[in-house]
Amino acid sequence: MAMPPPPAIANAVRDAISHDGRICVLTGAGMSAESGVPTFRGTQHDLWSRFDPMQLATAEAWRADAALVWAWYRWRMALVRDAQPHAGHRALAEPARRTSRVTLVTQNVDDLHERAGSVVDAHVHGSLFALRCFDCGSGHEGGLPPLDPAAQRIAPMACAYCGGGIRPGVVWFGEALPDDAWQVATDAARDCMLMLVVGTSGLVHPAAGLPALARRSGATVVEINPERTALSDDVDVSWRATAGDALPLLLGA
Ligand code: APR
Repeated sequence: MAMPPPPAIANAVRDAISHDGRICVLTGAGMSAESGVPTFRGTQHDLWSRFDPMQLATAEAWRADAALVWAWYRWRMALVRDAQPHAGHRALAEPARRTSRVTLVTQNVDDLHERAGSVVDAHVHGSLFALRCFDCGSGHEGGLPPLDPAAQRIAPMACAYCGGGIRPGVVWFGEALPDDAWQVATDAARDCMLMLVVGTSGLVHPAAGLPALARRSGATVVEINPERTALSDDVDVSWRATAGDALPLLLGA
């Protein structure tokens, strides 16, 4: 049974709202965990348990074996398509409907925030479904062929312009973040009065630096995560709770 928000957190939210202060919400893979999308550093689904996501999510992995990487992403896409936003996603969408002073920054490449009714201001790690050519970068319009859910190798579709392989629109390890999304994220971190950091391990930079940037700029930074993280020592207050429990309690009223 979830406990009510720690008073320091409830007060920080109340303060930001009553002073019409900007709120930045930064979400990570833990935000989607209760929808059934596995986190990156948690236990993997059986089919893919012997592969390390950190080694599949790279351009080198794609060059070495695009069919393996594409099969993993097709599996993730199917998982996301079948997943539903939870009460935490819906609770986050609420304040954003009432005020434009909430900026939602996510590291997640799924579309669960959007399907819960939020506008995501910055997808700093891109979007799974924004398919583009690995070679020439052209966007891929058309749909996806049916998926054999047990497949561990699927040849990527061919680019209509150059014949290159079609890759997911995510930021792989070693790749630059999209400039526009990163600008929105850093502006939001600098300008906010309150930052809610939900479901991220704080291990992957530069996104993991956003809470520190917010704090240096004068914001109160609140972490919501059932586990201690690399960020926990550097936030104002941590709430050991899941996104699905905590956000409705915090923002539902
Ligand atoms: N509610 C909130 N947090 C949760 C929940 C939950 N139900 N379940 C797990 N968590 C927390 C874990 O305790 C962990 O701290 O979510 C975090 C997930 O951490 P990671 O798997 O490292 O995900 P994230 O921080 O988003 O990773 C950053 O790394 O692999 C890349 O690009 C990928 O965007 C990703 C980036």
